Amino acid sequence: MPVFASARDLRTHLAAPRRHGQRVALVPTMGNLHAGHYSLVKIAREHADVVVASVFVNPTQFGPGEDFARYPRTPDADAAGLAAAGCDALFMPTVDEMYPGGTGETVRVSVPGLRDVLEGAVRPGHFDGVATVVAKLFNLVQPDAAVFGRKDYQQLLVIRRMTRDLAYPIEIIDAPTLRESNGLAMSSRNQYLDADQRERAAVIHVTLQRMRDAVRRGTENLAAIEARANLDLEDAGFRPDYAVVRRADDLGVPADGDLVPLIALIAARAGSTRLIDNLLLAE
Ligand code: PAJ
Repeated sequence: MPVFASARDLRTHLAAPRRHGQRVALVPTMGNLHAGHYSLVKIAREHADVVVASVFVNPTQFGPGEDFARYPRTPDADAAGLAAAGCDALFMPTVDEMYPGGTGETVRVSVPGLRDVLEGAVRPGHFDGVATVVAKLFNLVQPDAAVFGRKDYQQLLVIRRMTRDLAYPIEIIDAPTLRESNGLAMSSRNQYLDADQRERAAVIHVTLQRMRDAVRRGTENLAAIEARANLDLEDAGFRPDYAVVRRADDLGVPADGDLVPLIALIAARAGSTRLIDNLLLAE
């Protein structure tokens, strides 16, 4: 599998398949890949002839005090894993390629509303960084489709909104969350958990399922369901940032009796490790 640091070289490589009418799908990542990431490559393959993955640890989506410098970088293992998963090409740009004028003064893409709630409220500026880097990846790679995991549900909505509003001719495909055997959503951050925390982290998925079941029973209001979810997380030794039920299409607070698709979302910390997960209530 060829690896490109330069977008120009990648586009030259893609010119021939494009001339033959082949579809290109992009799987953007920050590397340190696990089975969840590789599942996106398989899904991309179902929608395209040529699958390109990108690995770029994007500085603009990390806040001050977040783990940009510490973010695990494992390019050789990532390239080997992507090749084994059937990826056709890997784009691994430098910070200069992505931010030629530096990260401070770069033009930014911002998705109002979604950028400020839940993850955005806890991590100010995070979604501007995500939207900006994904917009740039779209411009550099020019894919026909791009695949994102539902695990980062708010990110998926941010990217769908950006794609629509900036009129990118790109199909956004969402992929189900891959989980460990105890239900814990796979994440690069899981490696920071000790064995005990990892076991107890099953509470996140269990709590999401309890929230779903309680909403389905319909005997309690959402505030009561959310309050109990927070207590369940605390009982298992987690510090929840939020455990909420929201409208699935825009993460707004549902009105009583709203007959719209809903989603339960949790963000919780064990020690210094912060985990997020969600469950569509139709599932
Ligand atoms: P990263 O955290 O590396 O995730 C890359 C993609 O993998 C995202 O679409 C994410 O939702 C998906 N993913 C992560 N864990 C998953 C799991 N357990 N099952 C299925 N999919 C999973 O998300 C980012 O990088 C960045 O913000 C990025 C979009 C690349 C922009 O920098």
